[in-house]
Amino acid sequence: MIDRFNRKIEYARISITVRCNLRCRYCMSENGIEKISPKDVLTYEEIIHVTKIFSQLGIKKIRLTGGEPLLRKNICELIAALKNINGIDQVTLTTNGILLSKYLENLISSGIDGINLSLDTLDAKIFSELTRRDLFSKVIESFQTLIDKNFLNIKINSVLIHGINDREILKLVELAKNNPIKIRFIELMPIGCAENFIGVPTSEIFKVIEENFGNMIPIDEKDQLHGPARYFKIENFIGQIGFIDALEHKFCSNCNRIRLTAEGFLKPCLNFGIGLDLRNLLRSNCDDQMILSAIQQTIYNKPREHLFNEINDLRDERKMYQVGG
Ligand code: GTP
Ligand code: 5AD
Ligand code: SF4
Repeated sequence: MIDRFNRKIEYARISITVRCNLRCRYCMSENGIEKISPKDVLTYEEIIHVTKIFSQLGIKKIRLTGGEPLLRKNICELIAALKNINGIDQVTLTTNGILLSKYLENLISSGIDGINLSLDTLDAKIFSELTRRDLFSKVIESFQTLIDKNFLNIKINSVLIHGINDREILKLVELAKNNPIKIRFIELMPIGCAENFIGVPTSEIFKVIEENFGNMIPIDEKDQLHGPARYFKIENFIGQIGFIDALEHKFCSNCNRIRLTAEGFLKPCLNFGIGLDLRNLLRSNCDDQMILSAIQQTIYNKPREHLFNEINDLRDERKMYQVGG
């Protein structure tokens, strides 16, 4: 559907858990999450129910996020069920890769259309320091399994932080030189623990890449349902380089997405606390038409832009892992 700023909303990011098996310093504290009761998390039946209503409103793509979505049991059954919904063209997943090699075969069988893998460093020591877990080999194994299986739609997400992994740019770019993947550099957004760190701005990363690998040529993204990344090609590279520069280059005027938290709160914008308590509606006696109208109104009123750099009285207090990125 179209919102009040004439944006076509076709993409829903659905978080299925707040739990995670890493403790990335810019995302979670050492102690992990504030515990929530399992009954407060949407069931798969509820997610499927909502997705059917989303599809009636023109949502065509679902991205499953978390926390770490592969920690939730039977995720492949959810993916297969979502893929079966009329009007849903793509179901994709964002994961930290710890459990990915174990589940990849089943994810492919369930029809997953794309996998975004978070990988901020290629150095095992920096990985342990950044994530507080000694699990680098698991993520690399997952990356290699994706490549070996010729999985087609692979994106690598890297967030660069000054003083931690800012020297990893060239090694990460090399991944796209030799493999059919998209490596994306994401600007650190000031949410939760991230406020204690300084991210590397895209313009700085861009400069380092061009100095070392030559010109980056912009690519017209063909997938109509893509997210906010801008993509570039470098001569002789098999893969591509992408940037998600929410701060330096605000992309809100083209935003095509809504978010559903694991607890069933529908958020029309990442940085705003406003939205709709869908869990409550789903668990009351509302009929589908009433739920659809409430969702429609929430989408229509999606904020114009994120206001990360300005004063925003409606700012969300939720952390990244409570929203799903
Ligand atoms: P695809 O293009 O479908 O691959 O999706 P994506 O890049 O949006 O998905 P992913 O889950 O890999 O997100 C990568 C990063 O982009 C995360 O840090 C998200 O928080 C960020 N991101 C995704 N959507 C938005 C958005 O609408 N606004 C902002 N500011 N950041 C976003
Ligand atoms: N800013 C930008 N990206 C973030 N991520 C987590 N927290 C932040 C933040 N504050 C990224 C993770 C992962 C993706 C889903 O979101 O690194 O790659
Ligand atoms: Fe859209 Fe909000 Fe993201 Fe901006 S921050 S691109 S308005 S969801």
